[in-house]
Amino acid sequence: MQLSVDAGGFLKREGLFVEKAYYITTPIYYVNASPHIGHAYTTIVADVLARYHRLSGYRVFFLTGTDEHGDKIVEAARGANTTPKEYADRISAQFRNLWPQLAVTNDYFIRTTDTNHVDTVRLILKKVYDAGDIYFGKYEGYYCVGCERFYTEKELVNGLCPDHNAAPEYREESNYFFKMSKYKDWLIEYIKDHPDFIRPERYKNEVLAFLREPLEDLCISRPKSRLNWGITLPFDEDYVTYVWFDALINYITGPGYPDGEKFRVFWPNAQHLIAKDILKPHGIYWPTMLKAAGIEPYRHLNVHGYWIVDQSKMSKSLGNVIKPLDLKDTYGLDPFRYFLLREMVFGLDSSFSEESFVQRINSDLANDLGNLVSRTMTMAMKYCAGKVPEAHTQTEEDRLLVAAAGKAVAEVENCFQELTLHRALIAIWDFINVTNKYIVEQEPWRLGQDTANKSRLETVIYNLLESLRIIAILVSPFMPGSAEKIMDQLGITSADSQDFDSIRSWGGITHGKSIKRSDALFPRVKFEKEREKPEVTEKEIQPVKPLMDYADFEKVDLRVAKVIEAEAVPKSSKLLKLTIDMGEKRTLVAGIAKDYKPEDLIGKKIVVVANLKPTKMMGIESQAMLLAADTEDGLTLLCFDREPVTGARIR
Ligand code: MSP
Repeated sequence: MQLSVDAGGFLKREGLFVEKAYYITTPIYYVNASPHIGHAYTTIVADVLARYHRLSGYRVFFLTGTDEHGDKIVEAARGANTTPKEYADRISAQFRNLWPQLAVTNDYFIRTTDTNHVDTVRLILKKVYDAGDIYFGKYEGYYCVGCERFYTEKELVNGLCPDHNAAPEYREESNYFFKMSKYKDWLIEYIKDHPDFIRPERYKNEVLAFLREPLEDLCISRPKSRLNWGITLPFDEDYVTYVWFDALINYITGPGYPDGEKFRVFWPNAQHLIAKDILKPHGIYWPTMLKAAGIEPYRHLNVHGYWIVDQSKMSKSLGNVIKPLDLKDTYGLDPFRYFLLREMVFGLDSSFSEESFVQRINSDLANDLGNLVSRTMTMAMKYCAGKVPEAHTQTEEDRLLVAAAGKAVAEVENCFQELTLHRALIAIWDFINVTNKYIVEQEPWRLGQDTANKSRLETVIYNLLESLRIIAILVSPFMPGSAEKIMDQLGITSADSQDFDSIRSWGGITHGKSIKRSDALFPRVKFEKEREKPEVTEKEIQPVKPLMDYADFEKVDLRVAKVIEAEAVPKSSKLLKLTIDMGEKRTLVAGIAKDYKPEDLIGKKIVVVANLKPTKMMGIESQAMLLAADTEDGLTLLCFDREPVTGARIR
């Protein structure tokens, strides 16, 4: 089969357009410190983009890796009493081993110490040198090791590096320089002609603002007498190349510059993903380096904000570094991925708080999505004997549900183009809420009471299962594990289509397919600090009141009641409305919505006070009161050791 690629990165097979190519990169991380939530965020965003594009029919290449040369690493290795190479091997392995644990599906992991990378850097250096864009000169200035770059006096704040708040070193050296200034006007024009080259727009404006200042040539070497942990210049054995000149080139080494098939296919649609801290090297050094080397610029530079912890940058000395595996182990991987993507507005800074993380798990995941899946599957199993039922005539309410699904799919696709990934999740959750409302309005449990409603009940259950299929595919780039669990319950296997095309129209789930119900997708969680609260002590338990006469107790009519129906009370987060059988049918309103899901109550035998005067709650008359006890974690219903008779009096 003959594969070729056109200028836009579109793959053609035997001359016919068949697929599109998408190349996504993360920064290659320094190996002077272990991975934290900031590295995890960028890499998970890249993974979500990669997964989405694969599901949308793109051929994808996803690159991440580690940046291992330079002063910073030499210092860190010295601090750890080891050699730079051994140190780099150790920390690089931490990054490499972390990604699969966060379900990151990178296609390649690059290290700047890899020989193919060293060769590519030397090749580019030689090309630019031969073209006359590298010259030898003297340099003096302020150098920040943290940033691995020189600062002009104007850029320093009170003489300190603005990023590290540390005094830079004054350095005077003879070095090689790249004629970056020569490309300044070209770059300004290029950015103006390609308005989304750097996005969001605020970062494009920031780069244009840098370019309004004089642009100096870039010092691209270090004498080996001072630093020999680097790549030797091909035209002077006594010098190694500057870390940024080395690191940026990883983006073309990865897909196999100069002649690799992947380079030809993917480079035209190269998407770099970075945080705002490294905007200047990516927005200015890199495009000018590419221009000088005769390589087309990348397609987009996508820039996100910073995770802030306790109102400041994460740092070892402040002790506020958040480790991704700690959060994953405590709360689960998919909740962690969901939270990062839902909480940060792409491009802006975001404050990390474990408390809001826990809130999101309980409300968005356990309540909204988790409940939807479990009530739908419980009802589908109960009413449709473990098979996807047939859909019959659609009503206006059904058409509204179908329209809401179409709207969610279109919005999600749009958000992926614009990188507003938090909005994509909001659009999915809007659809989840519409589906939850559809259940409340269609009342399948009521339809299930009368066989005359069979075909309507089947249509409602079919629509719910189809909604779950669409939701599973929509969330799959964000929460691949949970999406798989939903699809497994729906009987969708790898033989079935699971791509974005399959959710552009309604009705992909097929009648007759076997389905099953599994455990809760997202168990409710407690905020770590709450968990540390001391247990309820005996002192806090209410004292027993003075004795009462037996005759008084006899007045209380306690009964065994079976829950027949259960549903949320609209506009109330606390109340559930139950229909109970205690020899006669009664309606009961109870404040247990935070502790029990409606579908988990159906069929349960509970204890109720049967002879209280009825009271109204949220407009519903409650004709009995159920009994429950406090736990450390909410309420638990009173239940029985052996199956009691419905309606039996409790003595
Ligand atoms: N080695 C260079 C990059 C070279 S790329 C050719 C480097 N490494 S780094 O380890 O410091 O990684 C910086 C990147 O890590 C940021 O651009 C961002 O992707 C991620 N983050 C590090 N801290 C972060 C936050 N607090 N918040 C969000 N992302 C952060 O710079």
